[in-house]
Amino acid sequence: MAQGYKGLEAAITAIREKTDFVPETALVLGSGLGGFAERIDVKAEVEYTDIEGFPVSTVAGHEGKFIFGYVKKVPVVVMKGRVHYYEGYEMEDVVMPIRLMGMLGAKTLILTNAAGSVNLDYKPGDLMIIEDQISAFVQSPLRGRNMEELGTRFPDMSCIYDKEIQDKIEEIAKELKVSVKKGIYLQWQGPNYESPAEIRMFRGLGADAIGMSTACEAIAARHMGLRVCGISCLTNMAAGILDQPLDHKEVQEVANQVKDSFEALVSEMIARI
Ligand code: HPA
Repeated sequence: MAQGYKGLEAAITAIREKTDFVPETALVLGSGLGGFAERIDVKAEVEYTDIEGFPVSTVAGHEGKFIFGYVKKVPVVVMKGRVHYYEGYEMEDVVMPIRLMGMLGAKTLILTNAAGSVNLDYKPGDLMIIEDQISAFVQSPLRGRNMEELGTRFPDMSCIYDKEIQDKIEEIAKELKVSVKKGIYLQWQGPNYESPAEIRMFRGLGADAIGMSTACEAIAARHMGLRVCGISCLTNMAAGILDQPLDHKEVQEVANQVKDSFEALVSEMIARI
């Protein structure tokens, strides 16, 4: 794949054959957080498999479709199921859906994910506002010929996660009495979980949470000028912190337990950011 800007245009044509809906806000639902889809007043759905050139996700629990509709009267496009680097796609393909949502009209991107807690003071079930990220362990999605139509060759990344939105999320969380932490998200390429030694290294580097997505998407979104924010659902303590192995089932179960506060927070965010 990796068909450059022409590939994006072909995919947009395929989507526009199914819907002319113009979203303001784009939302990516992380592992186990897909239940949010029930809060959308759905106007159209486009299966990833119906979009020409779209990388189709293979992980159990990751359904693949764009949902178009309204959340609290705000027009949104929601990715139910994302594409991961560990599935074997090129980074350019991994971020294709993010670029498409921007090209469809979205101005703001809300990224969510399930992540392991690297910070010893945080615990499973905590929600964390992403303040900044470490993407140095995965390839940049901007590698290769620059798509001038989207953005510049050397985009600034000094403020990836919009500070005003971060403040707003904190304010909303307080009102909803949902406790939120703040921290740095590190993207690991996976699919294997990290070793305890790697987690100690990442803690030393300043990471608070670790996952296998998000940072590359945030870079692609900033490249094209979208406002970006992110929330991690900390589903487990990262490897080696507790005396127990990591299990994908646990990740999904914990995400499911915090579903109500997570969904309330995200829908209020959509209304107010
Ligand atoms: N590591 C990487 N990715 C994850 C984790 C983790 O501990 N938990 C959920 N996604």
